[in-house]
Amino acid sequence: MSLRVEKLTKRFAGLTAVDELSFVAQTGKVTALIGPNGAGKTTALSMASGVFAPTSGSITFEGKELTGLPGHRIARHGVARTYQNLQMFEDMSVLEVVMTGAHGLGRSGPIAAMLRLPSVRREEKVLETAARAMLDRVNVSEHLFWRDAVSLPYGLQRRVEIARALVAQPRLLLLDEPAAGLNPTETEELAQLISDLRATGLTVLLVEHDMEMVMSLSDAVVVMNFGKLIAAGTPAEIQANQQVIEAYLGVEDVGA
Ligand SMILES: Nc1ncnc2c1ncn2[C@@H]1O[C@H](COP(=O)(O)OP(=O)(O)OP(=O)(O)O)[C@@H](O)[C@H]1O
Ligand SMILES: [Mg+2]
Repeated sequence: MSLRVEKLTKRFAGLTAVDELSFVAQTGKVTALIGPNGAGKTTALSMASGVFAPTSGSITFEGKELTGLPGHRIARHGVARTYQNLQMFEDMSVLEVVMTGAHGLGRSGPIAAMLRLPSVRREEKVLETAARAMLDRVNVSEHLFWRDAVSLPYGLQRRVEIARALVAQPRLLLLDEPAAGLNPTETEELAQLISDLRATGLTVLLVEHDMEMVMSLSDAVVVMNFGKLIAAGTPAEIQANQQVIEAYLGVEDVGA
């Protein structure tokens, strides 16, 4: 029962962004997916979250086939992801952004929602309570709940974004560069949060350029270059892998 990626391939006109990628992310562990800019990490995450369908290959989670399913169906299988920024939530309060994480998971359909039926209002209330609890969980204090989400400092936006993903109560969390733009203290707090989430049994797939965080936090590391898997192992194994050092780790200032 884990995330299994098998021979996953994505071609964009003339470019193979992900090329027969295979790996397993074990349940209740943090698996990091690393590699140079353009290696295909985000593309792999996007296939796992249903942003786009693979050209070929398969993705299963807890034995269920996710390959090619649309995002909302994948969400129902217990998968949530974060994005690099909150730009798509313009004009929403912090609380509203977090509540969007569970929309579509409620039982009332769009017509009930349009008519504002009591069942919907009850669901909204439950959702709001869950969103508040999740914001509390990621240490966003209540006086910020009604602030415009995009106006918050970057570190806080990151927490809001994680709360948005968690409110759907996922069993698999896909994180795309959660530490980008964070200062060292914020990065440490983020690592602690991810570690705490793992302790609750959550499976995490972490795309990240911050190697200190990756190597200290991850249980397993998967390395990609030009769309292909070049290595997989424990942080210690990866740090000692000559091919990985040449392709990625040896290069200073890999950017974010
Ligand atoms: N929608 C798209 N259409 C065409 N090409 C794309 C698309 N998305 C990504 N690519 C290309 O696919 C390759 C892999 O991109 P991807 O964003 O997955 O890399 P990445 O490993 O996440 O890089 P970074 O570390 O810079 O975020 C790149 O060459 C990129 O230009
Ligand atoms: Mg990326």
